[in-house]
Amino acid sequence: MTHAVSHGEEYQPVFVGKIMDELQTVLQRYPTKQAALLPALWIAQREQGWISDRVMAEVAEVLGITPAYVKGVVTFYTMYHQHPVGKNFVQVCTTSPCNICGAEGVLKAFLEHTGAHDAGATSPDGKWTIIEVECLGACGFATPVLVNDDLLENVTPAKVPEIVKKYR
Ligand code: FES
Repeated sequence: MTHAVSHGEEYQPVFVGKIMDELQTVLQRYPTKQAALLPALWIAQREQGWISDRVMAEVAEVLGITPAYVKGVVTFYTMYHQHPVGKNFVQVCTTSPCNICGAEGVLKAFLEHTGAHDAGATSPDGKWTIIEVECLGACGFATPVLVNDDLLENVTPAKVPEIVKKYR
């Protein structure tokens, strides 16, 4: 399903008023506008929930860089959403070291208990999107799971219902 905003629809810019002030404060901390791309995208995602093509175009315009460059960065990092996601964005490491310790079972438990059913899909209530990711840098604490900005360690399938209840 594509969620791109068509040309006929009205686009509400992100960087106006208080949000533009916030960006200006961020820009003061960076040597160039281009260097502030990651925090600018972060602000945009916080405001809109995801980064559409139109948002990328706005960020490019505000920072004076090309939309292609912005898109390259957005597609490189899994922390930027290119589609609308659920209220809770869950990233389960399923790379080999974690997989050996049961990461697939953890992923399956999240898909079942949230009703999302498929990795990358959003649950019908709009609350959950679960994805598989590469190494989260916490291999000694299998299985590590990122729920939004919280890194949870040593997650097992048995712990998943409690986690889902907490964030629901
Ligand atoms: S392999 Fe899973 S955190 Fe490193």
